Amino acid sequence: MTTVSEKITAFAAPKGIPEYYEPGFTHVRDTLSTAADRAGYGYIELPIFEDTGLYARGVGESTDVVSKEMYTFADRGERSVTLRPEGTAGVVRAVIEHNLDRAGLPVKLRYAGPFFRYERPQAGRYRQLQQVGVEAIGVDDPALDAEVIAVADEGFKALGLTGYRLELTSLGDAECRPAYRALLQEFLAGLDLDPATRTRAEINPLRVLDDKRPDVRKQMEGAPLLLDHLSETSAAHHAAVLQHLDDLGVAYTVNPRMVRGLDYYTKTTFEFVHDGLGAQSGIGGGGRYDGLMETLGGQALSGVGFGIGVDRTLLACAAEGVQPWSTARAEVFGVPLGEAAKRRLVVIAAALRKAGVRVDLSYGGRGLKGAMKSADRSGARYALVLGERDLEAGTIGVKDLQSGDQREIALDAVVGELVAELAG
Ligand code: HAM
Repeated sequence: MTTVSEKITAFAAPKGIPEYYEPGFTHVRDTLSTAADRAGYGYIELPIFEDTGLYARGVGESTDVVSKEMYTFADRGERSVTLRPEGTAGVVRAVIEHNLDRAGLPVKLRYAGPFFRYERPQAGRYRQLQQVGVEAIGVDDPALDAEVIAVADEGFKALGLTGYRLELTSLGDAECRPAYRALLQEFLAGLDLDPATRTRAEINPLRVLDDKRPDVRKQMEGAPLLLDHLSETSAAHHAAVLQHLDDLGVAYTVNPRMVRGLDYYTKTTFEFVHDGLGAQSGIGGGGRYDGLMETLGGQALSGVGFGIGVDRTLLACAAEGVQPWSTARAEVFGVPLGEAAKRRLVVIAAALRKAGVRVDLSYGGRGLKGAMKSADRSGARYALVLGERDLEAGTIGVKDLQSGDQREIALDAVVGELVAELAG
């Protein structure tokens, strides 16, 4: 039993899960989505959890995402399900399951929402992360790789961001990757590596290319690079992507040592990096995946896409001091003084809202001073002040909260006038 002296502990959100109650979040998410919408990517609402096997097979058992970071649990029917750690596998699953690839290619889809990775939380790295993503499936055309990259770039530009760069490379294809892998493994065998790195070199030798430790970096200086060992098809694809990006005026740096944390990439692979974010600098990434759809039981169709981190993009906006969104919760704020005034203002507010104006009111019978403070805090352009005497006179006070000017207008005319003024 709870006794009076026992203190009730307040709940807190789970560790590593950010919450957004400022308008920046939706603005960033919607701006990035709009860029994709403009390029013909239709929205898909994906399940938040899927069969665990989908990610194990799609993303790759040896990746950190699958082996260490998944939120996996048995549901009440003893099925193993996993909170989605990323969106690509789910999109490809949906394309196969609903035969979306039968209705003309490429299938172009976009998605937005939360993803879950059990990572060690730190600035810019969360356990519930938010992405806007696109996937274009079914056509292996370098112009489509360039489009995907350009859509991400457009999204960042539309927010006013400038302090980011695009790095890209090619991870080759089924023809050249195995031979290169063997070559790299041979090179790694000759190095002086600690046991953990040696194990990593055996499971996923490409990962060692990205090792940040100075001694490993030094040893890796002479490592063979996949870009120098591409098949003819992959080399031509890579060159064409760069050509399209040049045509589009999208700046990039080729980083032949780039490594991504997901196994499905082939050919074009890229990352958008922001220098104002510290260690978690990747604001978005993606690439082409030749084999994923077949691996998941579909046709052998290639796809290309990106996932942009909304959380980190928001941090990038803060780092650059750009705030392209309005913080105003209302355009008009009603201040009723007395019960009769309140009844009338409630109705005026409803009429304004019906006409498309964003309106809030002061509630709880607050006095003029406190209510005007709320009006200012709401970010509204106009305050409507209505007292008993105004009601008798059939007028209402309209205060311009920017200039401080106040005027009286006829109660009957207030809705029409405000709608016209706010539209102008
Ligand atoms: P990803 O690189 O794993 O790719 O994630 C994409 C973006 O999500 C990252 O660049 C980063 O901005 C953000 N992100 C990832 N993990 C976290 C985290 N723990 N906290 C905050 N933000 C995070 C994918 O997920 C692929 N599905 C992208 C893709 C689509 N490739 C092809 N199509």
